[in-house]
Amino acid sequence: MDLLSLRVKIEVRRREPETPLQEFRALRYILQFFITGSAMALGFFLLIFLVLGSSIQAMSVDDLPGWMGEINSKKTEAEILSQKAQIIDPTRIIQLAWKPRAFLYKGFLSDKECEHLKQLARNKLEKSMVADNESGKGVLSDIRTSSGMFIDKGHDEVVRRIENRMATWTFLPEENGEALQVLKYEHGEKYEPHYDFFQDNYNIQMGGHRIATVLMYLSNVTKGGETIFPNAPDYRVKDDTWSECAKRGLSVKPIQGDALLFFSLTTEAKTDTSSLHGSCPVVAGEKWSATKWIHVDSFDKQRKAGGCEDENVSCAEWAAMGECEKNPSYMVGSENNPGACRASCRVC
Ligand SMILES: *[C@@H]1O[C@H](CO)[C@@H](O)[C@H](O)[C@H]1NC(C)=O
Ligand SMILES: *[C@@H]1O[C@H](CO)[C@@H](O)[C@H](O)[C@H]1NC(C)=O
Ligand SMILES: *[C@@H]1O[C@H](CO)[C@@H](O)[C@H](O)[C@H]1NC(C)=O
Repeated sequence: MDLLSLRVKIEVRRREPETPLQEFRALRYILQFFITGSAMALGFFLLIFLVLGSSIQAMSVDDLPGWMGEINSKKTEAEILSQKAQIIDPTRIIQLAWKPRAFLYKGFLSDKECEHLKQLARNKLEKSMVADNESGKGVLSDIRTSSGMFIDKGHDEVVRRIENRMATWTFLPEENGEALQVLKYEHGEKYEPHYDFFQDNYNIQMGGHRIATVLMYLSNVTKGGETIFPNAPDYRVKDDTWSECAKRGLSVKPIQGDALLFFSLTTEAKTDTSSLHGSCPVVAGEKWSATKWIHVDSFDKQRKAGGCEDENVSCAEWAAMGECEKNPSYMVGSENNPGACRASCRVC
């Protein structure tokens, strides 16, 4: 054995045991990698399930937008909501009558939106008034016995979304709408049949006639509280789930989330007497609703042009009698909807 062959032998010997060892090591690393990887993934999924599991009972479809396949990309809640606001589903709209032109949208508001509006109104309800035929001033009347309040236009994100959705549905711009009025009717409370178009010249100055009304039901009523159009026939057979009052004409049961749209002007832009409507007395339970009156012209523009002048010569006298406090919506109004006696009430 010469020196060269010895070296070769040694090299061969050294390498021989190393090759399987290296392969083994590589295999071990790969195995280790997979085992730790799957253990981590398993742990991660377990954690997700635990977190979801503890909160899933408190969730509804509304909280998980997209889980039923509606929207699948990542968006902020505000984006999703504003997108939803634009969606009008014609399959949920029922055409009720052409005289008056009336439509019912099933599930126009979500339960959450209904709760939100009721919450905004809850501690601010005051006895409802009706517009005086001559002056247009709000006056108390036996005709209308509910309590109500106004939510300023664009009050918050939810209100903006609802107002936007109403504009999309009615094809009438938001600026033509008045502030949203929330009403609560307790046992026996009602609104006798009336028109939503005005008879006085004062109210007509602001945005012209009311062309349409969107009436949203914010609660279910055990019995009564139907919206009735006494001048329109109803051919349905009505069982005892309807109140006696509701059997006198075309009527709509108040169902939480539903919205009724009807027009007070005909397609020829004349006042429509078939739009006479009222709220039947509540027989059992309580009724909550929200109303949006929509004019033929901008309601914001005409009011804002007012400046700081009283709109009735009697304003000073009324203010001295404490009407600014007793009747603030007519006297003072709000930012979007200024009242008629702002100078005398010293708010401008
Ligand atoms: C206002 O006019 C309506 C319809 O013309 C009438 O039924 C109602 O009694 C009048 N109200 C007042 C307070 O005069
Ligand atoms: C002012 O109010 C009185 C009483 O309500 C009414 O008769 C009159 O028409 C009003 N004037 C104007 C300009 O609105
Ligand atoms: C209101 O009544 C409708 C129809 O009867 C029902 O589907 C809905 O769940 C009720 N909503 C509430 C909040 O009770």
